[in-house]
Amino acid sequence: MLAEIYTQEIEAILAKYPSDQKRSAVMPLLFLAQREYGTLTNEAISEVGELIGLQSTEVASLVGFYTLYHDRPGGKYRIQVCTDLPCSLRGAQAFADELCEKLDIRMGETTPDGQVTVEEVKCLAACDHAPMFQLQEPNGIHYYEDQSAGSAMALIEALRVKGQVD
Ligand code: FES
Repeated sequence: MLAEIYTQEIEAILAKYPSDQKRSAVMPLLFLAQREYGTLTNEAISEVGELIGLQSTEVASLVGFYTLYHDRPGGKYRIQVCTDLPCSLRGAQAFADELCEKLDIRMGETTPDGQVTVEEVKCLAACDHAPMFQLQEPNGIHYYEDQSAGSAMALIEALRVKGQVD
């Protein structure tokens, strides 16, 4: 349980907010839960909700909205393709479909080697450079714009090589 493992850390997070605004601590608490559990399972979401008096559904809606929170396990590298309308008008959906086809996975799945997950996300504020995606990896988050399936696959191959030597 987070409350037992991270008592002091949770107190420090809650102390940053007025006592009647504890619910505002939901974001750092979700980050803490994800760091501990790897993904934000229903149990983790419920735990966070209990800490600050929010319903699980309220917490879950945030998890679904923000691309930095993950409610399903994924690969070491998460490729999050924006398929929102402006990007789709510039070929993002076709790009995402072709990328998944080349990786032989369906959207949301992870490659059998456990390295790469492809996910669909909403606007990432790079609409004029679609197809684009953000890459979440252990060392941070990076944007890749004006992509093709070929350029994305080249990146993935480089990541796979890097993953083998990490
Ligand atoms: S709609 Fe895709 S980045 Fe804005």
